[in-house]
Amino acid sequence: MTKEKKILISGIQPTGRLHLGNYLGALKNFIELQNSETYDCCFFVADYHSLTEHFDPRKKPEEIKNLLKDFIAAGLDPNKSILFIQSHIPFVTELAWILSTLTPFGELSRMTQFKDKAQKEEFANVGLFTYPILMAADILLYGAEYVPVGEDQLQHLELARTLARKFNGVFGEIFKEPKALLTKTPRVMSLQNPEKKMSKSDPSGCVFLDDAPEVIEEKIKRAVTDSESSIAYSPKSRPGISNLIEIYSAFENITKDEVIEHHKTSTYSVFKEALSSLISKHFESFRAKKEALNDKEILDIIETGNAHAHGKAVKNIGSVRAKIWLI
Ligand code: AMP
Ligand code: TRP
Repeated sequence: MTKEKKILISGIQPTGRLHLGNYLGALKNFIELQNSETYDCCFFVADYHSLTEHFDPRKKPEEIKNLLKDFIAAGLDPNKSILFIQSHIPFVTELAWILSTLTPFGELSRMTQFKDKAQKEEFANVGLFTYPILMAADILLYGAEYVPVGEDQLQHLELARTLARKFNGVFGEIFKEPKALLTKTPRVMSLQNPEKKMSKSDPSGCVFLDDAPEVIEEKIKRAVTDSESSIAYSPKSRPGISNLIEIYSAFENITKDEVIEHHKTSTYSVFKEALSSLISKHFESFRAKKEALNDKEILDIIETGNAHAHGKAVKNIGSVRAKIWLI
């Protein structure tokens, strides 16, 4: 990790098990970017963000540790990346407050994710509304220039860019405008409802990374397709099979055309069996590594990661305070 490398950051909320959307849209990319050795990588557990939706406080510590185990078992390496917990560096809430004073109300009201989530919650809280400001603070506090995320986060990232620009304009140049890094599958669709994105809030449409092979097979077998029989890609008219082709292509690392060519004589059931076995095999070592990780190892890794993250944050929040003449 040399100093000149540009900083890259991303976070995931500890709100349940990771699914194929999280993996193909984000986590797989985190690992590839880390291993490219091009960036100074930071990945965190977005526990403050996860307070915005209904949760059981007694389960939160387990959810946080579980997500860290997912990170590490999937290939994030504490020797190559800074792994930390968002709330352990509380400067981020200070920066979020400062940024909130630059955020137009209207801009937050237009956030698609806020509108979706507020509709589902019985008591939508203000945190759900200001969530994108906290996300901007997560990025800007660490001086990050690159942010690997799925497509659903692009609108939030745009706000981070706007706020960086605004802060620089009002108080003086300090922040870089962060750029998104998308994968080839930035939007994985639900297996049960392929017109909607795969989401933790609808577990029936998800394959989870730690699902047993039999479970994966059953879920893929039951994935909604259509009454045609050919393996063809047409996301508008045949969203179910098109989603499965995208997933196949991402796991096999081949193009969609190659998937179609390879399966031109396959029935849906043969194609689905091939896909299930591809997914199960891909996560075989993940499942074993995750099983073998213990809480003590995780806590040690986090202690080191938090210390590194703290160092970057202290420096940047100091510059922010100096710019706005807080002494
Ligand atoms: P979350 O679980 O909401 O914290 O999301 C973690 C990461 O996974 C973010 O970068 C999301 O953009 C990404 N993600 C979530 N769902 C999907 C999906 N269905 N397709 C692609 N990326 C996704
Ligand atoms: N909002 C993101 C999500 O739900 C998680 C997140 C929080 C994040 N802060 C971030 C992602 C900063 C990238 C950068 O997926």
